[in-house]
Amino acid sequence: MPQNRPLLENWTPELSARMDKAIFVAQHRLHELDLFNDDRLVELLDRHPREFLVINTMGTDPTKPAEWQEGRAGNLDAEQLFESVQRGRVWLNLRRVMDHHSEYANLVNNLYSELEAECPGLLTYNRSANLLISSPGAIVYCHVDCPVNMLWHLRGKKRAWAYPLESGVVSDDSIEGVVSSTKPEEVNFRPEWDNLAAVYDLNPGEMVTWPQHTPHRVVNTEGVNVSLSTEHMTRAAARRNNVFLANNHFRKMFPGDFRSTELTGWRPAAKEFVLRIMRRIPPLAPTPPTGFKTPITFEVDLDAPDCIRQLEESDHREPVLQ
Ligand SMILES: [Fe+2]
Repeated sequence: MPQNRPLLENWTPELSARMDKAIFVAQHRLHELDLFNDDRLVELLDRHPREFLVINTMGTDPTKPAEWQEGRAGNLDAEQLFESVQRGRVWLNLRRVMDHHSEYANLVNNLYSELEAECPGLLTYNRSANLLISSPGAIVYCHVDCPVNMLWHLRGKKRAWAYPLESGVVSDDSIEGVVSSTKPEEVNFRPEWDNLAAVYDLNPGEMVTWPQHTPHRVVNTEGVNVSLSTEHMTRAAARRNNVFLANNHFRKMFPGDFRSTELTGWRPAAKEFVLRIMRRIPPLAPTPPTGFKTPITFEVDLDAPDCIRQLEESDHREPVLQ
């Protein structure tokens, strides 16, 4: 395939205007590349450092995020892990593929170069990408991510629900909890929220994105699913995270009720400035957000139902990395 063909397809100025302001779907060509066929995925799984491979399973009810579990691969090789996705109820997250595989780093950087060329004023940094390989019928519970994220769908079919921030289904308090790692990413989803959602059935070659902190959930509706989840920061996204972090930290350190989530003007700029200074002074610095850790409670086993063998409680372990 010629290298100079763009990765974005049918992009328009209208889509550029929606970036980080609206929930929308756009088209791309990543699924036409050879990088995501079975052989390449198994090869990638084989080369990917195991400490950056997160393995999950889950229940079937979107209102029960506590059923999300983290597991380990045991002695399975890449081919067997891939088989467990095809036959079981397994969610593989190859974290930070840009750090470990130059061909995927180039791809994601090319994608962002095209996006920045198309979207006036867009300047992204802290780019990262996770490759998601998941079983037919697998689900991800409703949650909020801290960076801006984009889901580039490559294989299989999935349905994605995104709940507009202006619908108010999650409070600023909940978002602050996620950003400051005082609450887990999952939010207490209620089925009636679906009436307020933007819902998309994603096919290979489609990308969905939404404004930073928009709650979302997904269900695989057909076949093994492969998607690339990219994350990035912008100056505006950092401001938004810093305002939430500052509110959380300042309420512990100073008198006053710091709750405003206003993002423009001198007040949020001052909040961000003071937070940055405090980060440099150990006694005043906030604890850096660490994310919530899920203990390891199962091992992938091709002979077990759904390829999931629950571990005895005495064998539960803290994950090496999240
Ligand atoms: Fe997400």
